[in-house]
Amino acid sequence: MSLTIRPRQRASRTGNQTSTPLRNVHATGMSIPTDHPGQAGQPYQPVRPGHRRPGLGDGSAAGGESSGPSVVASDITLVVSPRKGDSLTILDHIDFQAWPGQVTGIVGPSGSGKSSLLYCLAGLEEVTEGSVSLLGKEITHMRVASLTRFRRRHLGFVFQSYNLITSMTVEENLALPFTLRGSFLPRKKADDLLRYFGLAEQKKQSVTLLSGGEQQRVALARVLLSDADIVFADEPTGALDRESGDRVITILADLARRSGKTVVLVTHSAEVADHCDRIVEVRDGRLGRAGGEAVA
Ligand SMILES: Nc1ncnc2c1ncn2[C@@H]1O[C@H](COP(=O)(O)OP(=O)(O)OP(=O)(O)O)[C@@H](O)[C@H]1O
Ligand SMILES: [Mg+2]
Repeated sequence: MSLTIRPRQRASRTGNQTSTPLRNVHATGMSIPTDHPGQAGQPYQPVRPGHRRPGLGDGSAAGGESSGPSVVASDITLVVSPRKGDSLTILDHIDFQAWPGQVTGIVGPSGSGKSSLLYCLAGLEEVTEGSVSLLGKEITHMRVASLTRFRRRHLGFVFQSYNLITSMTVEENLALPFTLRGSFLPRKKADDLLRYFGLAEQKKQSVTLLSGGEQQRVALARVLLSDADIVFADEPTGALDRESGDRVITILADLARRSGKTVVLVTHSAEVADHCDRIVEVRDGRLGRAGGEAVA
């Protein structure tokens, strides 16, 4: 895969960034950490880097491998035609699985296909060959409307480029998915999250006034509010300083380990990788390790 085409145009299966899949408001099951000054909530024990929760892999944790994978990609290939007559293989026969209750990390060099893999797993890009099943449902050839509904109900996606609506404030961005569904933003939970991410002051500000790292945290808060069963996050700490990055990975790890959600993230950060229960490496569109076996 030596050919690199810019600017890149993805064959998106949504075409609508406001359709970032977000779901029902009630009971995210998420406990907002309380070790932040001025924070209300339950006592909080942060997850330590590299620490494995008891039972992970033996099925006794919130999720774990005995409950079966919630993300299954079988022999997927992604081939694009950037120009007539040209074809470029981006993903080359990949098998991938992720389990509830675990954080699965995807690592690899820039341009190796990590984001493409995440897009395919989340049904945002259609695979050329192979199949993808989420929560036991095959999404590979689902009609676009059904897939959009399924994504809104069950999936959250934090994009590498955040995908916030720039004409809106922070709070409006958080509320948008709820508005689209005809429901309301859970304000208390939203406020707690904004406080946790150090964004309480910016609630009424336009997102265009925020730094990249602040926008990244808003995008993450939007997904965390959604109660998604599976959260995909593309370099969720890429624009963050260490402290903010720690908060983000801590809350993602908690989402998996305390609430039994499935978290699949792409990262370049060794610290973030340290928090993952399993690591899969992508190199040149292929899995770097035989069979996609966990390396952590
Ligand atoms: N639709 C497309 N048309 C042409 N090229 C594409 C398309 N989608 C992805 N690519 C190319 O495929 C390769 C893998 O892209 P991808 O974004 O998945 O890499 P990545 O591992 O996420 O990189 P990074 O770490 O820099 O974000 C890149 O060379 C990219 O330019
Ligand atoms: Mg990427």
